[in-house]
Amino acid sequence: MKILFYGTKNYDEQFFQKLLPSFPGIQIKFIEANIHEETAPLAKGYDAICAFVNSDLGTNVIEELHKCGIKLILMRCAGYNNVDLDTAHKYGMHILRVPGYSPEAVAEHAMALVLTSNRHTHKAYIKCRENNFALSGLMGVNLYQKTAGIIGTGKIGQAMARICRGFGMDVLAYDRYPNKSLDFVKYVSLDELLASSDLISLHCPLTEETKHIINEESIAKMKDGVMLVNTSRGALIKTEALINGIREHKFFSVGLDVYEEETDFVYEDMSERILPSSTIQRLLSFPNVTMTSHQGFFTEEALTNIAETTLENATAYMNGEELKNEVLA
Ligand code: NAI
Repeated sequence: MKILFYGTKNYDEQFFQKLLPSFPGIQIKFIEANIHEETAPLAKGYDAICAFVNSDLGTNVIEELHKCGIKLILMRCAGYNNVDLDTAHKYGMHILRVPGYSPEAVAEHAMALVLTSNRHTHKAYIKCRENNFALSGLMGVNLYQKTAGIIGTGKIGQAMARICRGFGMDVLAYDRYPNKSLDFVKYVSLDELLASSDLISLHCPLTEETKHIINEESIAKMKDGVMLVNTSRGALIKTEALINGIREHKFFSVGLDVYEEETDFVYEDMSERILPSSTIQRLLSFPNVTMTSHQGFFTEEALTNIAETTLENATAYMNGEELKNEVLA
């Protein structure tokens, strides 16, 4: 089975190459170019393609892949909101993903963002390096005995809930399907979570229902001085509403690993370029906003699990076995 891997970085190649000898029958061609309308025809002659969170798998690209005879799309990630599932299914394509490769990796990064933006460790590091040992601008707040509100208690939300409990926080959660095994978590309505939480962490998937779940109205319902962290998907937050909320001093801190505008820039070094849109710069201009570039997943353990599950998915398809990680309509 020949698979074309789009948008690969050296770390992708390294982790997949390491495991490849254990998966006989699979050949991989790694290319740096990501998939879009112009690069989709490169899939001709391959049995499958492999893509990531920042890939464009919209209608036109799926049409191109269909023309190339592609029947299998391997997502080396959990999310699939960037895939036009209806068109893919219409052409009998199978979409396989990696549902949970290391929830702790993402949850730990969410807490890293909370701690960084709360205690300003990123600024303290630079100040100390410049012999500036003054503390002005570095004041934070305790997390101990504060309330954390977790929106979405799936694999990552649960891990975040446990981390917050470890910090001595009370943990509230909102999820359409409460998880009864989380006995230390109190499930409440979204409104109650918004009104009662000192820290709000987003862990639900991006769907039509959750798009802009954080908007003008939901921000107005939050406590003043709330900490917000998003490691899920950028479009859960309506960016303009967030910017207005920050300007109105609603937030103590905001930590973003994902943002609405990220797709064109994510994983690219844009340091020499002038960005065509200003939203990211506007967010970065606020002293209480900390941003990272969709790196929640980026640990050795997670990359190993991603490579293993993706290769298992490909092998299951190749051998006509049950596709347990298939994304259905
Ligand atoms: P999951 O599927 O295990 O959990 C999602 C939870 O959200 C479920 O409990 C579900 O019931 C809940 N949910 C769905 N719709 C909801 C709604 N309308 N309101 C409230 N809750 C709702 O997913 P997992 O593995 O925990 O991942 C969560 C998200 O994290 C993914 O969808 C993805 O967008 C993001 N992610 C980010 C990464 C990063 O590197 N920053 C890496 C991996 C995932």
